Amino acid sequence: MSLIHWTHFPPLGDERGSLVALEGGKTVPFPIQRVYYLFGTKLGVSRGFHAHKKLQQVAVCVTGRCRMVLDDGQKREEVWLDTPTQGLLIGNMVWREMHDFSHDCVLLVLASNHYDENDYIRNYEEFIRLAEK
Ligand code: TYD
Repeated sequence: MSLIHWTHFPPLGDERGSLVALEGGKTVPFPIQRVYYLFGTKLGVSRGFHAHKKLQQVAVCVTGRCRMVLDDGQKREEVWLDTPTQGLLIGNMVWREMHDFSHDCVLLVLASNHYDENDYIRNYEEFIRLAEK
């Protein structure tokens, strides 16, 4: 089964432009406890390189584009995030890397919990060990 799962955010558009509303428990499949966004990422910089033990996230590229790599320890898949009406679901125990940020990229992330450094797995070998269990 693919690691790439999208949730669609229907745009509420009219002649003035578009509006997207994100609702926890609806288009975002968990209660949203935290929102953060990456912007101003320098050219050539890659980010992520971690998995989470429990945290679930949805990533949506509001402006610009970046390339997301997901890895569950068995397979590695990649996808471009470049549309504000599609959110990428990133479950727990999935290694993620973000590459090729455009200079204007704003990557919005909705998270199922507050920030907790103890929930991170930042070492790839440790991730593989835990993913095999
Ligand atoms: P980090 O998760 O390492 O960024 P990325 O994986 O996207 O490269 O986070 C960078 C720094 O920001 C790190 O010191 C932790 C801090 N941080 C918070 O304080 N709160 C948060 O919600 C997040 C996501 C990061």
